[in-house]
Amino acid sequence: MHDMFTTIDHLFTPGKGILAADESKTSIGKRFRELGIADTPELHRQYRECLFSTPELEEYISGVILSDETIHQTMSDGTPFAASLQQRGMLPGIKVDRGLTPAALSDAEQWTEGLDGLRERLQAYKALGAVFAKWRAVFVISESTPTLGNLQANCQTLARYAALCEEAGIVPIVEPEVLYDGTHCLSQSYEVHEQVWRELVYQLYQQGVSFETTILKASMVLSGKEHHHADAVEDVAAATIQGLSHTLPASLGGVVFLSGGQSNEQAYAHLNAMCRDYTGLPWALTYSYGRALHARAMAAWGGQEAHIPAAQEALLADARACSLASRGALS
Ligand code: 13P
Repeated sequence: MHDMFTTIDHLFTPGKGILAADESKTSIGKRFRELGIADTPELHRQYRECLFSTPELEEYISGVILSDETIHQTMSDGTPFAASLQQRGMLPGIKVDRGLTPAALSDAEQWTEGLDGLRERLQAYKALGAVFAKWRAVFVISESTPTLGNLQANCQTLARYAALCEEAGIVPIVEPEVLYDGTHCLSQSYEVHEQVWRELVYQLYQQGVSFETTILKASMVLSGKEHHHADAVEDVAAATIQGLSHTLPASLGGVVFLSGGQSNEQAYAHLNAMCRDYTGLPWALTYSYGRALHARAMAAWGGQEAHIPAAQEALLADARACSLASRGALS
């Protein structure tokens, strides 16, 4: 059995990162429909099998986040996905939140659901092989948001989830995603990220969560997608590292990044600049990308068995680029 420290050491193996393949049935269905792929559980399964059976993927991927649907599915030969990943040295993780719901009295914001029954669900996921978990909360930047109430509620929920995970011996990944949508500038993004990370650390402390066995999944400090001015790569790297350094305890287990709607090239360049220019940080940094790791693979696959080799080639090329970026060695 994996203890939490072993799990963290493995996830942060130098040059490796996490593949976020945990889209819920609804989210994967939406992506499939956009590409003209039929939205069926069997095609969801075939797509995940295509990703997970990619030759040499374990050279670049230390862990894979699964959804509730996927952790119950198997490879064509009947081996459960979690066992198949584990056999190849890729640790299975599980997304345990139950998605977003509109926040009461603040219609522009959202809460994340899923604490009810979580203690029992964690035991069931553990029995299925999960050694780490993920919970995502979202924060919207606008003139009136995030509100203090939403900031505190989402961070407290993340901390309560993390406490339940640690109680179960499952490493919690806490993911407070500050959304990239909007017209805000880099310094507004910085302010909100700093507020969110500060509040999250406070709430984790209040709930007695051990930082050493917790991983932060962070969004990068970026101007909004609709902002008129594109950020310089070095400015994103500097702002993100500054915000993390101002707020996180040195004892935290590590930091992984989400891609959050950036282009693949942006997501790689930003990670590369952070890992190249900021050595000697107290925590390891690496990727936990969803779209920036497998959107190209999904498009190449297109629901066709004959396209599996092309999809796997796309995934491997993107995983290799992420790996180089995590070493600050991407040219
Ligand atoms: P993206 O990299 O596509 O943002 O996905 C990462 C993730 O896990 C979102 O919850």
